[in-house]
Amino acid sequence: MNVYETDELLGQYLGFHFGESYFGVGNYPARCAGICQELMAGRDKRKALDLGCAVGRTTFELGRVFEQVVGVDLSKSFVDAAHNLKQDGEIDYFRRDEGELGTRVTVSLDELGLARAAERVSFTTGDACQLGEEHRDYDLIFAGNLIDRLQDPGLFLGDIHRRLADGGTLVISSPYTLMEEFTPRANWIGGFERNGQQRTVLDGLREVLSHHFEELQPPQDVPFVIRETRRKFQHTIAELSAWRRVR
Ligand SMILES: C[S@@+](CC[C@H](N)C(=O)[O-])C[C@H]1O[C@@H](n2cnc3c(N)ncnc32)[C@H](O)[C@@H]1O
Repeated sequence: MNVYETDELLGQYLGFHFGESYFGVGNYPARCAGICQELMAGRDKRKALDLGCAVGRTTFELGRVFEQVVGVDLSKSFVDAAHNLKQDGEIDYFRRDEGELGTRVTVSLDELGLARAAERVSFTTGDACQLGEEHRDYDLIFAGNLIDRLQDPGLFLGDIHRRLADGGTLVISSPYTLMEEFTPRANWIGGFERNGQQRTVLDGLREVLSHHFEELQPPQDVPFVIRETRRKFQHTIAELSAWRRVR
């Protein structure tokens, strides 16, 4: 069973994307969208793609400035939730406190100032590694915490330029967790030693993307907190890198 299809993860991700912040760490999907907007200053903002969009917060946030934003995720449960939130303007989820105890919480797009942006977004299930031909000519592609969930990140990175317009922007964030249940060791692009030299995932990204992209700025840390229960939280520091298609 794909963990991203479970009710447990659905509740956690609705809370992560639309709920409260913890330990002074700001909303990660909204922060990522903000960085994308800064990178797109003065550039065309017709179409954006949020790959591995989960329950959609970054997609909605990008809808504030892009004419059209598509959120794609492998999880039907996440995409259905994002779509229902767009359609109904609100959605409920269970925020677990301990065991079976918890509270039902309502997310409202209106309260988040996202009701207008929602008119510009759509959500669809899909595999980032096997996108249909309709996914092309984007001005921005954002892949948040996706590459370390892919079976073959190198294949994905080697092909993604085809989905961007000339001069289009690619933004990748990831904590590079490298778990074999998602990415077999043979497909890692970094996170190991070769010939006595350390090769990081960022080294791997630079090598693969250099064929079609220029790196736009030094990578930056973007922290996030996912609440599991009242007493258990995951505190992670993702690294965000930004690239412009030049070839
Ligand atoms: C760690 S979550 C990150 C979600 C979101 N971008 C965020 O930062 O909150 C990874 C997401 O990628 C999705 N995913 C995993 N493999 C995928 C694939 N091949 N194509 C599209 N989405 C995928 C999962 O369903 C999940 O929603």
